Amino acid sequence: MITLDQHRSDPFVAEHLREGLNRRVVSAHDALLDGRGAGAEWLGWRRILAYPNDALLEELAQQAAEIRRRADVLLCIGIGGSYLGAEAVIKALSPYFERFEEPEAHGEDSPLFEEHTNHGHTTEILFAGHHLSGRYLEQLLGYLEGKSVYVNVISKSGTTLEPGIAFRVIRQWMEARFDDCDRRIIATTDAKKGALKALAEEKNYRTHVIDDDIGGRFSVLTPVGLLPIAVSGADIRSLFYGAVAMKQDIDGAEYHEALQYAERRYALHESGYSTEILSIFEPSLSGVGAWWQQLFGESEGKNHRGLFPVTCLFSTDLHSLGQYIQKGRRNVIETFLTLEDDGGHVTIPQLPTDTNDQSLDGLGFVAGKRFSDITRAALEGTMEAHANGGVPVQHVIIPRLDENTLGGLIYFFEHTVALGGYLLGINPFDQPGVEDYKKAMYAQLGRP
Ligand code: PA5
Repeated sequence: MITLDQHRSDPFVAEHLREGLNRRVVSAHDALLDGRGAGAEWLGWRRILAYPNDALLEELAQQAAEIRRRADVLLCIGIGGSYLGAEAVIKALSPYFERFEEPEAHGEDSPLFEEHTNHGHTTEILFAGHHLSGRYLEQLLGYLEGKSVYVNVISKSGTTLEPGIAFRVIRQWMEARFDDCDRRIIATTDAKKGALKALAEEKNYRTHVIDDDIGGRFSVLTPVGLLPIAVSGADIRSLFYGAVAMKQDIDGAEYHEALQYAERRYALHESGYSTEILSIFEPSLSGVGAWWQQLFGESEGKNHRGLFPVTCLFSTDLHSLGQYIQKGRRNVIETFLTLEDDGGHVTIPQLPTDTNDQSLDGLGFVAGKRFSDITRAALEGTMEAHANGGVPVQHVIIPRLDENTLGGLIYFFEHTVALGGYLLGINPFDQPGVEDYKKAMYAQLGRP
């Protein structure tokens, strides 16, 4: 379940936008449900949730179990929508430090626990092909030396430069080290076309398909995201069905929080705001922030319209960007994404000197409080200060960090951004602008 608090953004909506906007949102929502909006041929991200493919979920879980048994490292090669979703979910669900298992989340009878005790290690998930750093690739290969490596190369088009050249290097490295190399490489790509599809057929790699009607940034709940996520030990069925439940909720509700969020973002855009910050307090949500940036940026940034999406991690960024948010140009809106239960049970120690307020660090006033109490105070204080400083603030609250909740959150944002695109009068499912830099880069590289 998602809670949305918008009261700190109410005063910032322009007067002429206060009436009647919800009718436009409902009509955008109906167009999405009926497949009548722009880019209706790209609604596979909804279709897969309406008709869940349990056999595929099972197949992916089985393959993940094989990889977890045999691999020290799963290397995921992909860029943009072909890696951000997987990274977001894995980061959100993984413990901060290797081998620390939350006792409640992974009890002795859970498969994750069993995996650890039986094999003594987790399969580390690393990424490549998501930028152009040769230094990174060189050091990565050094790190992989002597390890049992599996590769999941992911590219819908099968022709993207960054993962393409990284895979060339890594394939050569794999072929020189593993007799069963072709068994260790799994390709996730288009069913019929693209260079990766052709290569996978020739080498007899195992493959997974990205359906034609699902764009990269909407593909986290397909094998693109689900295979790496399953290898991380997460329950992909629960993730997937969390999204199914959220879709049902939104589709069936009269005016769901997703519609309210879409309406307010649009109203603020039309009131002159140009940047939306997704503000988080839990570092493990930073991957969700990066995924959200791509989802909203590529979907809405068209025809010189749309909110520029950027993520801040607080309180870290309060000590860098906080000044600008508080006092800079008044073109920024802010959406806080927080957890009801952040699990921060560490308590600030009480010192004997606290009782008579003589503590040397001057922090006696927080002694005995839990970190989560401090975070809550920082959250409330920051929202209040920013709103008072002229920043329209919305607050999205999720109950906890688990698979089911994350699946729901993923769908919540996907639905919102589709409505956002329709309200702006653009097609939220294409990305014509991304091609321009590629053309210019290929020209520099002398592509025929
Ligand atoms: O959302 C998108 O469509 C893009 O960000 C793509 O995911 C990204 O460019 C990678 O494309 P591909 O999967 O074809 O290699």
